[in-house]
Amino acid sequence: MSVIIDALLTGRGLVWFLAKPYLVSSIRRNNMSNPDELLIYARKKFFGVIRPMQERDEIVPLMERVGKQKPKVFVEIGTANGGTLFLLSKMLPQDAFIVSLDLPQGEFGGGYPSWRREVYEAFAKDTQAISLIRADSHQVTSLEQLRSALDGRQIDFLFIDGDHTYEGVKKDYEMYAPLVAKGGMVAMHDISENVIDTRCQVHRFWAEIKKKEKKTEQFIAKDSPKGIGIIYK
Ligand SMILES: C[S@@+](CC[C@H](N)C(=O)[O-])C[C@H]1O[C@@H](n2cnc3c(N)ncnc32)[C@H](O)[C@@H]1O
Repeated sequence: MSVIIDALLTGRGLVWFLAKPYLVSSIRRNNMSNPDELLIYARKKFFGVIRPMQERDEIVPLMERVGKQKPKVFVEIGTANGGTLFLLSKMLPQDAFIVSLDLPQGEFGGGYPSWRREVYEAFAKDTQAISLIRADSHQVTSLEQLRSALDGRQIDFLFIDGDHTYEGVKKDYEMYAPLVAKGGMVAMHDISENVIDTRCQVHRFWAEIKKKEKKTEQFIAKDSPKGIGIIYK
């Protein structure tokens, strides 16, 4: 039964259309700040319609680092259900600017349909701003769109969780990491080898970049290793 409800909610049906105002209102009213409570909310609320594709032991430590670092400009490449956009946005300061870059439909999670825009826009508090760019991160025009949204600001925290091929994640890093401010952070998901989906090759790029960068950190859950790596700029 819950599978059917879930399918209706995550599809584009009438049920979702009717439920959306309640979800938007619940998200707007959510003033939790504890990472574990936020994770439970994102996984369970409205049958997990904004659930993240992350393990607790990787995303919670990242949320804690973000909470300490207080980045004012956060850019996420790869949003899908909105799970990490929600969780990481909740750790930002009151005046933060949030940008999501994702395909309308895409590999490695599928992008998101347009009815979700309103839900994702509700992730920003009234004192924050959010911009949702629906485009291919690898296109120069997308980089230009981002630059224009940033309006001269640098990125304080970049989260890369888009194209998981070796070439894809490398390109995202090479295109967007230069926009990160000194003292800022770049994090990426799936830094462990994925033996089930061999298209995922982020671990190869992570192994290379870890050697080159001065300060890095990684969180890998024991039972389901996907892993998040952070580079401190
Ligand atoms: C694994 S999902 C993101 C999951 C999300 N960060 C979470 O944990 O809640 C990957 C997303 O990257 C997007 N993606 C893949 N290639 C992309 C590209 N070239 N440009 C923009 N987005 C891309 C997909 O559309 C998909 O929504």
